[in-house]
Amino acid sequence: MTDQNFNDIKQEALLLQEQLAEHNHSYHVLDDPVISDGEYDRMMKRLIEIEKLHPALSTPDSPTRRVGATPLTSFDTADHSTPMQSLDNAFNDQDIIDFHNRVAKLLETDEIRYTVEPKLDGLAVELRYEQGILTLALTRGDGTTGEVITDNARTINSVPLKLTPPPQGKNPGFLEVRGEVIINSRDFETLNKKRLEMDEPLFANPRNAAAGSLRQLDSRVTAQRPLEIFIYGTGIARGLEANSHAGLLDTLKTLGFRINPEIRTGLTVTEVLDRFKELEVLRENLPYEIDGMVIKVDDIAFQNTLGVKAKSPRWAIAYKFPAMEETTVITDIKVQVGRTGTLTPVAILEPVSIGGVMVARASLHNMDEIQRKDIRIKDTVLVKRAGDVIPKVVKPVIAKRTGDEEVFVMPDHCPVCHSPVRRLENEAAVKCINASCQAQLKQRIKHFVSKAGFDMDGLGAKLVDQLVDRDILHSFADLFTLDKVTLSAMDRMGDKSAANVVRAIEKSKRVPLKRFLFALGMDHTGDSAALLLCEAFSTLGAVMAAKNEEIAAIDGIGPKTAASVVMFFENQENLAMIEEMVNNGVVIEDHQALGNNLGEGTGVQKSIFNGKTVVLTGSLVTMTRSEAKKRLQEQGAKVTGSVSAKTDILVAGESSGSKLTKARSLGVTVMDEDELTAQLNKG
Ligand code: IVH
Repeated sequence: MTDQNFNDIKQEALLLQEQLAEHNHSYHVLDDPVISDGEYDRMMKRLIEIEKLHPALSTPDSPTRRVGATPLTSFDTADHSTPMQSLDNAFNDQDIIDFHNRVAKLLETDEIRYTVEPKLDGLAVELRYEQGILTLALTRGDGTTGEVITDNARTINSVPLKLTPPPQGKNPGFLEVRGEVIINSRDFETLNKKRLEMDEPLFANPRNAAAGSLRQLDSRVTAQRPLEIFIYGTGIARGLEANSHAGLLDTLKTLGFRINPEIRTGLTVTEVLDRFKELEVLRENLPYEIDGMVIKVDDIAFQNTLGVKAKSPRWAIAYKFPAMEETTVITDIKVQVGRTGTLTPVAILEPVSIGGVMVARASLHNMDEIQRKDIRIKDTVLVKRAGDVIPKVVKPVIAKRTGDEEVFVMPDHCPVCHSPVRRLENEAAVKCINASCQAQLKQRIKHFVSKAGFDMDGLGAKLVDQLVDRDILHSFADLFTLDKVTLSAMDRMGDKSAANVVRAIEKSKRVPLKRFLFALGMDHTGDSAALLLCEAFSTLGAVMAAKNEEIAAIDGIGPKTAASVVMFFENQENLAMIEEMVNNGVVIEDHQALGNNLGEGTGVQKSIFNGKTVVLTGSLVTMTRSEAKKRLQEQGAKVTGSVSAKTDILVAGESSGSKLTKARSLGVTVMDEDELTAQLNKG
């Protein structure tokens, strides 16, 4: 090959490397994709091809390095150039006030401003850049020495392999940044689901998943894990001048690092306490786990005056949230029967307060889960609560075993109707197959009357239980014959509430097809499957007449749903029950083709974003760009990176630039954040 040829190829490789790095940064750091995944993949493929032919072009900062390298047999270790310290912990407001008073006394001033950051629950790492290129990545280790995980760190898309040179000036010659490697809660669930399918041990929480993924001898495995990083500080940072911590983070951002958007600065101690309360609420909606808030004296001159102690700096402290995990004892394991007859084991716990909420029961899911985790009655267990979901038993504390623990055996008879149970082939669930089992009936009716079903306001769980126990309700159809006299005879029911329930039942009789199908509670047929059925068939008659293949051919519906729908409508008792409902006054409204004017109360009010191509630009205040993207996609939008004639809507956040100008010139509809939120909430 001639030099000329090689030079051309080298230029092409350099250009691809630069463009891929830029796109990677837009996507993973700025959360603002510019090109499609397909285009990115094509460019990457071409670069891999070139580098294979000319290995000299495969520099350590090439984006091709993100796929991982040759596996290691063990990790090397290396010392941190300055120790990676930890933080003192605070557990209440008084601890923070004491911290502030200590700082104020040492600095001889009360005028102290703080920067506060979410305390990310992941794994601390240090990244070293020499002449702008990532040359070393270390875990925190014991703070003095860490493991060399450079190949693994390169696979994390939000870790820059090369720094973006600042607009004026050069890259710092030697820079160490520190941050936390995390895995999003949703990605953690997906990862565990896959591991379950592959019969691999599950990760107990996202932190363990992040640590386990990062500390892989085979970095190609790490490359498959959706790890992310947020940078929160520096080690040695030659040539990086900053007067404040917030200023330092801003500079790091311009160099290409990902900085957490929830960081706030310039706060007084009172505002710090307010922000903590805010973050406690926000926490439930963050895509990743945080275990508190880190409070840092913002002024770097102040930080230097305060200095460090043996293990932690005097200028920072971690304010921890109350733990969401606690240990307690399983006193018993009981079995609940669900709507479809599934027997679910539930752990009865010695009540324990977790993050301020008393917990006395926790789900154990199914027998497989109990066996896999080896959970026994009388075990001391770790219980975790997150948001509003049912607390989960994470694992037994084996060290606390006394030998008195009892292995739980799933009953072979339904605990409610006492008929024999069956375990279906290839399914983890054990089921009571007696269709007239009272426990199932109660759950089925609760589902039927729920908001997404017939929406019978006032017909709560306790009332349903009583109506079934007293032999008044035997089927869905019986609901429509309930009268005021019957209802007012129930416990805790006055005339007025009985009348309200009767009114709600009356109102519910006109029901859109989608809610009707949902209410029936067919296996594997939830809200979205019901909608897909409606869109495909429009009328109940057509759904009832549909063949298995026709249903299974619907995009988004699987064979299990198809089989269950067909089986439901083949059953003579079910058909008789529907007929009886209709005789009792139920009117099932055909599905309106999704237009802009779906009738009130259909529950499928069409989103204006459905089928639209939407571009997001500028910064959003009330949600992150990726949250907005996700919600738009949920409402049927296609979210793309660049504005073109095909764009329907541009959502312009604060300081929107060229995309806004382009959208205006193309006559694309432009929407601000307020309108976006309002429309999303309608959809
Ligand atoms: S600053 C000297 N900021 O918490 C200051 N740490 O016990 C060092 N962490 O090992 C840490 N989020 O893994 C800092 N925004 C944040 C953090 C954070 C999480 C972790 C970090 C560290 C531990 C401190």
